Amino acid sequence: MKISRIKVKTSSRSYNIIIGKNIINNISKILNNNIGKFNKCLIVIDKKVPKKFLKKINFFLKKKKIIYFFNSSEKNKNQNTINKIIEILLKNNFYRNDCLISIGGGITGDVSSFAASIFKRGIKFINVPTTLLSQIDSSIGGKTGINSKYGKNLIGTFYQPHLVISDTNFLKSLPSREVICGYAEILKHSLIINRKFFFYLEKNAKNILNLKSPFLEKAIFKSCLIKKKIVEKDEKEKNVRQILNFGHTFGHAFEAAKKYSNKLNHGEAVALGMFCALNFAKVNGNLHNNDYKIIVKHYTKLKLPMNIKKYFSKKDLNKLISFMKKDKKNSNSKINLVLVNKIGNANYNCQFNNSKLYNFLLKNLVN
Ligand SMILES: NC(=O)c1ccc[n+]([C@@H]2O[C@H](COP(=O)([O-])OP(=O)(O)OC[C@H]3O[C@@H](n4cnc5c(N)ncnc54)[C@H](O)[C@@H]3O)[C@@H](O)[C@H]2O)c1
Ligand SMILES: [Zn+2]
Repeated sequence: MKISRIKVKTSSRSYNIIIGKNIINNISKILNNNIGKFNKCLIVIDKKVPKKFLKKINFFLKKKKIIYFFNSSEKNKNQNTINKIIEILLKNNFYRNDCLISIGGGITGDVSSFAASIFKRGIKFINVPTTLLSQIDSSIGGKTGINSKYGKNLIGTFYQPHLVISDTNFLKSLPSREVICGYAEILKHSLIINRKFFFYLEKNAKNILNLKSPFLEKAIFKSCLIKKKIVEKDEKEKNVRQILNFGHTFGHAFEAAKKYSNKLNHGEAVALGMFCALNFAKVNGNLHNNDYKIIVKHYTKLKLPMNIKKYFSKKDLNKLISFMKKDKKNSNSKINLVLVNKIGNANYNCQFNNSKLYNFLLKNLVN
């Protein structure tokens, strides 16, 4: 069994990301080596994770366990779910030394880690990501959060996990639509900071999307490494970490405008958001034309979401702009965007007037 390990060192905590196939069978040993002693755990598990995994964990982890089955959706990524989790922890008299283990995608992870961070000001949190997106992105870096009617992830904390266990076996049952969502964030990592990795993806994308070894493992490992390095430099997103938001100012507005329904998943919104940001940068930034063409070819080849008109029309314009204005990255009345100027290089803190964004979206929605 090949196991990779990445150590993330931040000022608030250092922790391991353990990546491998079937490693869930070793959960007891992994927890022992990384977490130390604890008495009981609450497992928050996404209902859609195949039952055989919970059976395995029940078998291999000989601890007192309470199981909470979570119906994962952006709509349930809310205060109500947090209250339910906290209630279970309180009722069962959890101590700070006990564990909350999240088994699921980014939504389950974001909700569980937020609950873990506020319960008694922080209990041990172990993330077992089960989607490609969560294995390469959301499980690392300590951003927790829930949505509100005013926008996405507007309530949350920074709370690094104590351990991340990424078993690639989970991905086998993942619908292909969700694999593409994860791929969008892998692509993001390459576009913002690693040109060589982009050309690796360009060559091997089909194998990665088909979950073929060793391409899948390499893409996961590389992506985690990219995110780790950025998070270590800037844990609280004061500066360089902002580049990880590439495509997300548009993307979050798209998701909110679709009321977080499954008409547009997070990864799809990000793919579409990055494409908008690339088009915007071509006119208002300094994106190299040749690189732009290479990325368009990549999007086209993989049929990634790139047509905003498939999802929105002119009547959605005001709604989209109002959500973009509420984005938490904005610091004044202007809208903050991350723009790529060439493959592997991004600038954060590019500020634009609402009217510039309005005209850009208008042009894209009517032409
Ligand atoms: N905290 C961060 O740094 C960060 C970074 C990126 C994204 N996010 C958040 O992550 C969320 C998106 O994550 P996601 O794409 O993993 O979504 P998700 O958690 O909703 O999972 C996607 C779908 O796959 C299902 N699923 C999960 N594991 C499965 C498995 N093994 N087999 C079959 N089905 C399975 C889920 O039930 C869901 O229907 C968004 O809310 C986004 O805001 C957070
Ligand atoms: Zn994202």
